[in-house]
Amino acid sequence: MKILVTGSEGFIGSHLVESMVRKGYKVRCLILYNSFNSNGWLEKLPKDIKKKVEYFYGDIRDRNSVIKAVKGCHKVVNLASLIAIPYSYEAPFSYIETNIVGTTNLLQVSLEQKIKKFVQISTSEVYGSAIKIPMSENHPFNAQSPYAATKIGADQMALSFHKSFNLPVVVIRPFNTFGPRQSERAIIPTIIVQAMKKNSINIGSIFPKRDFTYVSDTCEGIIKALNINNKNIFGQTINLGSNYSISINQLIKKISKILKKRIIIKKDKKRIRPKKSEVDQLLCDNKKAKKILKWKPKYSGLKGLDHGLKKTIQWFGNEENLNYYNAKKYIL
Ligand SMILES: NC(=O)c1ccc[n+]([C@@H]2O[C@H](COP(=O)([O-])OP(=O)(O)OC[C@H]3O[C@@H](n4cnc5c(N)ncnc54)[C@H](O)[C@@H]3O)[C@@H](O)[C@H]2O)c1
Repeated sequence: MKILVTGSEGFIGSHLVESMVRKGYKVRCLILYNSFNSNGWLEKLPKDIKKKVEYFYGDIRDRNSVIKAVKGCHKVVNLASLIAIPYSYEAPFSYIETNIVGTTNLLQVSLEQKIKKFVQISTSEVYGSAIKIPMSENHPFNAQSPYAATKIGADQMALSFHKSFNLPVVVIRPFNTFGPRQSERAIIPTIIVQAMKKNSINIGSIFPKRDFTYVSDTCEGIIKALNINNKNIFGQTINLGSNYSISINQLIKKISKILKKRIIIKKDKKRIRPKKSEVDQLLCDNKKAKKILKWKPKYSGLKGLDHGLKKTIQWFGNEENLNYYNAKKYIL
């Protein structure tokens, strides 16, 4: 049984591929074609893992490339996406192209090639600021950024392919995920990298609260969704989150304590999102994942977050890893 993983060379994708190969899965990695001939974060996987994966260079926006990528696979995990919220303000059409059109391409080809399970990776950003906490899968959608709007579009296309054509789709909705290899555009690497390279950090709003899941827990949830042999899962959406939230301010204090370093916070106007676009709070209700997937985060609550942060900081503490990051003043 072969699984196609799109977005395999990215942060979550590289951890997912590593974990799947360790568990004995045959994995085909769809890597966005690039002129650097780079396999992204997959390059950092141990040699014995890299040897076992199949590499496929393509683009989910391109039907021809998707037909070839899906051919011979039994299941698909779709992580491929443009994900940076600030860049979605600048280039919304590219988000529509990748997140909605690209996902629809994959769905259409998966239907034609009779794929046995299609796992669509969503995001908690689709809910917008919490109206009711914790946030269950029934929480209303509120797209506060073009990114969120296109992820709602992608999820709805996936669910509509289940309802209209019986494509075996499950939507997995992770809340904020963190860990080694995450982009510096995300909040935890932003804080860690700047704090390690300088004594001060340039940051946007410190008041929003987020529910953070360590990347190995997110991957475990995705693998459980792939594995579960229960037809009732099709057409369902399942949250993955820790059910514990913390403000960015508290997070900075935690990181400062682990690094044993006083961090000076510098408000960076460019990093502050437009008021109505800022998601103030996300807190996951993970009961459905516990019940259906028998999933629960190993890194849970305050203790779990601390443990995950220590592991992440340890990874960034390796000079070779830290050199991938540049602590620029502002990155879209
Ligand atoms: N990181 C988080 O906190 C988080 C939280 C919730 C959901 N998610 C979702 O998880 C998925 C992976 O996110 P990530 O954090 O690993 O981000 P990432 O940017 O590291 O990975 C995204 C991957 O998609 C690939 N990609 C982009 N456009 C493509 C295209 N046209 N064709 C093929 N591949 C393309 C990129 O090359 C990249 O490898 C995304 O769908 C994201 O919405 C992430």
